[in-house]
Amino acid sequence: MGDVLSFGIDFGTTNSAAFSFGDSGKVSIETPYGAIGSMWPFPSLVAINRKDGSILTGIEARERRNELEKDYEVIRSVKTVIDKDKTYEVAGKKWTPVEIATEIFKGLAEAIRHKSKSECKSAIVAVPVGFAPAKKANIRKAAKKAGIEVLQFISEPTAAFCSNYEDLKMCTNVAVFDWGGGTLDIAVLHIENGRVYELESDRLDIGGDNIDEKIARKMHERFCENKRINISFDEMSSKAKDSIINKCENAKIDLTDTDVSNVSVLQYDDLGIVRASIDYDYFSLLIEPEVEMAMECLENAINKSGLNITNIDRILCVGGSSKLRPLRRKLIKKYGKGLVYYPKSVMWDIARGAALINTKGYQYRLNQDLGLVMSNGDFYPMLRKGQTLPCEEARMCFATVNNEKVAKFIVSDSANPDECSFQQYITVEMEKPSFLKSYFEVSCFIDPDMLFRLRIRSSEFQHKYMYFWTYDNVKLVYRLEGGGKNG
Ligand SMILES: Nc1ncnc2c1ncn2[C@@H]1O[C@H](COP(=O)(O)OP(=O)(O)OP(=O)(O)O)[C@@H](O)[C@H]1O
Ligand SMILES: [Mg+2]
Repeated sequence: MGDVLSFGIDFGTTNSAAFSFGDSGKVSIETPYGAIGSMWPFPSLVAINRKDGSILTGIEARERRNELEKDYEVIRSVKTVIDKDKTYEVAGKKWTPVEIATEIFKGLAEAIRHKSKSECKSAIVAVPVGFAPAKKANIRKAAKKAGIEVLQFISEPTAAFCSNYEDLKMCTNVAVFDWGGGTLDIAVLHIENGRVYELESDRLDIGGDNIDEKIARKMHERFCENKRINISFDEMSSKAKDSIINKCENAKIDLTDTDVSNVSVLQYDDLGIVRASIDYDYFSLLIEPEVEMAMECLENAINKSGLNITNIDRILCVGGSSKLRPLRRKLIKKYGKGLVYYPKSVMWDIARGAALINTKGYQYRLNQDLGLVMSNGDFYPMLRKGQTLPCEEARMCFATVNNEKVAKFIVSDSANPDECSFQQYITVEMEKPSFLKSYFEVSCFIDPDMLFRLRIRSSEFQHKYMYFWTYDNVKLVYRLEGGGKNG
């Protein structure tokens, strides 16, 4: 085909997905990639055989996740421990979280190879708002080990918004409601002249997986009643638990459009064939607490952002669990049909947004000045608001007063203590009193993981920095208009 593809990756806690845009002549081709041979994203699950170290990932690992536990070490949600100093010892080999994450990236790379016959050599990767730099650095490493260079990280809600920008162009404030398998992530975005600002975010550690298990436990009770057998769900074999949880997940998904769904398992341990139906009303009542918590989380995030619901133009719903019909109904009932927005493909929007940004070449920009407060109280910006990130190193030299051994600096984003978002006091000491014409050099830059890095050295010891400081809460803005590679 010879098509140049631009990739985006959603590295999720429960599911991951990739997406590409390519240009074949004038037609832009969009392709989602998930589990090979299925319409689903790629489950973020890695199973390693305890005897021979062989690896299972993707849909097979997910469908047999409890059963596999007998012979495999099944590692879930590696994204949440990606920066932890821990190892999984399996079959005589020590695995770090980075190596586990590498297997997921390899799975995505394989899915891309399989579907588009091309290699994913680089991609933009979406991560949650406020994702720690150490986590980003490790995701970068994991992707690299799988042959994928991370061009840039983008926050998940901003990616979801970008994917729907054409439809949401007229909005000033958008709440992104992203409910997946393991977590609900809410972010409140403010949009002005094509610039996207992240005002607030909140999270709830409840998702579709919890709901599946809840339904499974209820179904189990019914089966036991029908068969007059008294055995608790936890006592069932892992294989039986897997089958019922998978069937309940399917039933949950069915109930998006049907009023009754069936759950049946052919060999449910000693209970043999079991079968029951679940109707929408019962299901809706069962998951009411989870839905209520999700609604509350959304409301809290909006309140914390300083806005109220009358200022919100759209609630953008993404992530598989946002499709839950009881939730959708409640959202519409509370906020009105006009406010609740469901894109066409809630499961792929984050990866799609990341891929879209990749084709357009958009970059993050700095949304504050960063610099030094001088001894006379003036503020000297070293990095300026609006500049594209990551950025080159900016340097500034300070003459030292003869015979002074100590220099003091204040790093901030404003001279006014009431307006600044942080102030960092720095004192550096020379090894010996300075001579005439000696000076300190302060330099800073923002690295590809959006970490502000500042360092200081003296003219007398050019080869060695005497002070390092990093700041991970840099204010960012995304420009969706006029900021790309084409203008
Ligand atoms: N039609 C549907 N109705 C209800 N739930 C659904 C539907 N389709 C998918 N789901 C659920 O969505 C969840 C997966 O969503 P998604 O792929 O967005 O997760 P994720 O991004 O990996 O999770 P997280 O954001 O927690 O990391 C699963 O629990 C799945 O059962
Ligand atoms: Mg997600």
